Formats: sequence, structure tokens, C-alpha cells
Amino acid sequence: MESNETNEQSHNRTIALIGGTGKEGNALAFRFAKAGVRVLIGSRDAIKALNAATEMNARIDTSSVEGYSNRDAATKADIVLLSVPFDGMKPILEDLRDAVQGKIVINIASSLDPERKSRAKIPAAGSTTAEVQQFFGDSAKVVAAFQNISPEKLESVEEKIDCDVLVCGGDKASREIVIDLIRKIGIDAFDAGVLANAVAVEALTAVLIAVNLKYKIKGAGIRLVGVPR
Ligand SMILES: NC(=O)c1ccc[n+]([C@@H]2O[C@H](COP(=O)([O-])OP(=O)(O)OC[C@H]3O[C@@H](n4cnc5c(N)ncnc54)[C@H](OP(=O)(O)O)[C@@H]3O)[C@@H](O)[C@H]2O)c1
Repeated sequence: MESNETNEQSHNRTIALIGGTGKEGNALAFRFAKAGVRVLIGSRDAIKALNAATEMNARIDTSSVEGYSNRDAATKADIVLLSVPFDGMKPILEDLRDAVQGKIVINIASSLDPERKSRAKIPAAGSTTAEVQQFFGDSAKVVAAFQNISPEKLESVEEKIDCDVLVCGGDKASREIVIDLIRKIGIDAFDAGVLANAVAVEALTAVLIAVNLKYKIKGAGIRLVGVPR
């Protein structure tokens, strides 16, 4: 399912942040909106989304952030980022199924044991990203990204964040578009290969949470060595 889109077309996109009212989604909204990307905050409750958008606009002195129900945000966007806990995702996927067809979907959820998040737990399809791809079918181009970066890092006022993002998925062109978009918000992103690799990126989150707990820190991340920057 290769798409024909090119990197040049990755600019001026509209991104819907499903669950953009939460910790990670709101931090991503901040980062994307500050970089001039058009952001639509989605929520199960449209009023909650509207309030989150109003707060974000005040915070970064803009009027460009909009808030909608999850489905309306996904319908109006060309990239749909799922920022909801994986164990509550099923009804949200059902709600969004029609709206995401033909679009890039970014899954940021990890393969974690909901009872103890410092422990990896792999879902039946092989990763949460593969579960989302299976649910939406081949017309949606699902990629994994942002699993290994904390909201604390994303909220940094620094233009550049010292933490890498790995991007996996079945469609190479979609991976490139997402990498390009992530670089736009001051984060080095790297192509980490096909959908089958998403399990490694997702399970790595459990490792980082274990490190956070052990060393009483927030926001342990990863940084590749030996790569071009
Ligand atoms: N926090 C991190 O450090 C981090 C880092 C990397 C990736 N992630 C991933 O980012 C995603 C969101 O994490 P988060 O920490 O931002 O979560 P969160 O704040 O608990 O929830 C995010 C949003 O999802 C919706 N939501 C919450 N519980 C839900 C449920 N049971 N069913 C459906 N929707 C629900 C809510 O939005 P509405 O009520 O407005 O609908 C909420 O504001 C997760 O997949 C997580 O694995 C998190």
C-alpha cells in the first residue's frame, strides 16, 4: 500500500489530535501549533475540545487551533493522530473508521501492561499499531511514532528537543511525510522500517517507564548514535 505522496506535499497539512485534551496530545498540540502546523484538537466531548483549543490559542498567542468532536476533527484533517489510552481505544476507532480512510493515521500508543506500565504486553496483532492498521484496513496508512517521547520533553520551550522519534509503518511514503512533519517541530525523527518493527518501539516505552521509576525522573528518552543529523 505505497502512497504516491512526496515530502514536498507534507507541508501545510492539517493534523487532528484525537484525545488532544490529554497529557501527550495537548503537549503535541502545543508543539505543532507553535511550529505553524494547523492543529485540530479532538475529544469525545466537542465542548471540552473547544475549551482546550481556546486555552492553547491563549497560551501561544494564536487563533489557529480549533476544537471538535473526535470524528469531526478526523474528517477535517489529512493526518489523524491517536492520542488516547490503548485500553480505551476501541470505541474511538469505531467512531473514526470512515473518517480516516485514505489518510495517514499516527498511533502513539505502546504495547504496555495496563496493570503495570513498566512491563511490555504485546497485543494479538503484534503491536498496538498493527491492531489499529488491522481495524482500519489497508486504505488507512497507519504509522507508529512518538511512543518514546514524554509530554515533559514536548512541552520544552527549547526549539530543538534532545530526544529522537522512531517511525514505523507499512507505507514508506507515509513514514517520510510523518518524519518530515516531526522534524518541523524540532525533533529528530528516523525511519525505523516496516509495521512489524513497531513492536520494538512500543515495547521500548515499558523500558523507559522502568528507567523513570528506578531513577525517580520524568521523560527518559532515546537518542540514536551513528546516524546523520
Ligand atoms: N503520557 C506519556 O508519557 C506518553 C508518552 C508517549 C505516548 N503516550 C501515549 O499517548 C496516548 C495518550 O496518553 P496520555 O498520557 O495523554 O493519556 P490521557 O491523558 O490519560 O488521555 C488522553 C485523552 O484520551 C481520552 N481518554 C482517556 N481515557 C479514555 C478512555 N478510557 N477511553 C477513551 N478515551 C479516553 C481523553 O480525551 P477526551 O475525554 O477529551 O475524549 C483524554 O484526555 C496513550 O496511547 C499513551 O500510550 C503517552
